[in-house]
Amino acid sequence: MHLVPASDAQKLQLDALTYSEWGRLLTLEGYLSRELRLRAHPWARADMRTWLLCADDGAVLASCETFRTGSFQRAPGGALLPGDSFAIASVFTEERLRGHGHATRLMDLLAAELERQPRAHAALLFSDVGPRLYARSGYRELPAWDWHLAPSPGAPGETVDSLLRESDLGPALDRMRRPELPFFFWPTPTQLDWHLERGRIYVEHLGCSLPQSAGATVGGSTALWGLVGRSAELTVLMFDARSPAEAIALLEAARREAHRAGLSRVVLWEEPGNASLLPLVAGATRIARDGSLPMVRPLRPDVHPPALLPVPRGLWV
Ligand SMILES: CC(C)(COP(=O)(O)OP(=O)(O)OC[C@H]1O[C@@H](n2cnc3c(N)ncnc32)[C@H](O)[C@@H]1OP(=O)(O)O)[C@@H](O)C(=O)NCCC(=O)NCCS
Repeated sequence: MHLVPASDAQKLQLDALTYSEWGRLLTLEGYLSRELRLRAHPWARADMRTWLLCADDGAVLASCETFRTGSFQRAPGGALLPGDSFAIASVFTEERLRGHGHATRLMDLLAAELERQPRAHAALLFSDVGPRLYARSGYRELPAWDWHLAPSPGAPGETVDSLLRESDLGPALDRMRRPELPFFFWPTPTQLDWHLERGRIYVEHLGCSLPQSAGATVGGSTALWGLVGRSAELTVLMFDARSPAEAIALLEAARREAHRAGLSRVVLWEEPGNASLLPLVAGATRIARDGSLPMVRPLRPDVHPPALLPVPRGLWV
C-alpha cells in the first residue's frame, strides 16, 4: 500500500463517490460543480492536496485532503517562528471497503509524509466520527463547545464602531491578538474567504441572503463572520473580544446581521480566550458541538500544542 497525490481525473472520480456523504442539499451536478468551484478558490489552488491510499495494483482504498495552514511556534525569547501545519479533511473509504483499516493506514502514511515537509509543525482535523479512529494515528482531541444566539432585529452597525466587508478580512485579522502560547494556528485572509465562498455556493439553496457584513469592530475588539456552509446560520470565524462589554456589542451586531439576512442563529466556537466572556452574554447558550471535533497531532518533536489550544471556526476544513 502506498500514498499518492490524486490527479485531476482521480479527483473527479472521487467527487462522484463522496456525493452520498457530503452532497446534502445539492444535486449530484450541483455537488460536482461545488467541488470544482472550491478547488478553484485561491486558497485551495495554492494549499490543497488530495491524497489517495492505493493498493499495490493501484486500486484506490481511501482518500483525504490536506490544506496547508499557517502556524507559529514561540521561540524562548518570545519571537514567533512561522511554519506549515496541515488541516485534514474529507477522510473517505468507499462503503464496500470499510472496516479493513484503510483510513487508519491512510492517516499513518499521511502523517509520515507531512512530517517530511520542511516547515512542518502540526496536523489538525475535525472529526465527525468521534476521537477513536484518529487517536490511533496520534491525534489528540481538544474541547468542542459552541455558543448559540438567536437573531435579533435592529441595525447591526448600531452596537459597534464599524461593520466589516469581505475586503476587510486582512486588516481585521491584523487587528486581532495572537494567542500568548508556545504554539498556535493562524489563518490567512484567503483561507477565511474560502469559507465565504462556501456560503456563496449554498446561499441559493437556503432561502436566506448573504450577510451584508463580514464582521465588526468595537474598541480594540474584532469579529469576523459569514454564511459558510449548508446551514442558514451566521458563523463566527474569528473572535477577539477584549472586554465583556465589547464581546456583548460584537455579538449583538452578529445577532442583528443574522436577523437581517434571514438566518436562524449565530454560532460561535468556544476558545480558551473567549470562554470566560461568553457566559456574560445574555441569551447565549452553550452546547456540546455535534461533529467537527478538533484533533491535533504534532509533526515535529519540538512542537507542543498546548492542552487548551485555540481552534477558531476559521480553521475548519
Ligand atoms: C470513517 C471512515 C473514513 C472509516 O474508514 P475505514 O477504512 O473503514 O476505517 P478503519 O477501518 O481504519 O477504521 C474504522 C473505524 O472507524 C469507525 N467509524 C466509522 N464510521 C464511524 C462513525 N460514523 N462514527 C464513529 N466511528 C466510525 C469504525 O467503527 C471503526 O472503529 P473501530 O475499528 O475502532 O471499531 C469511513 O467509514 C467513511 O468513509 N465514512 C464516511 C465519511 C466520513 O464520515 N469520514 C470521516 C469524516 S471525519
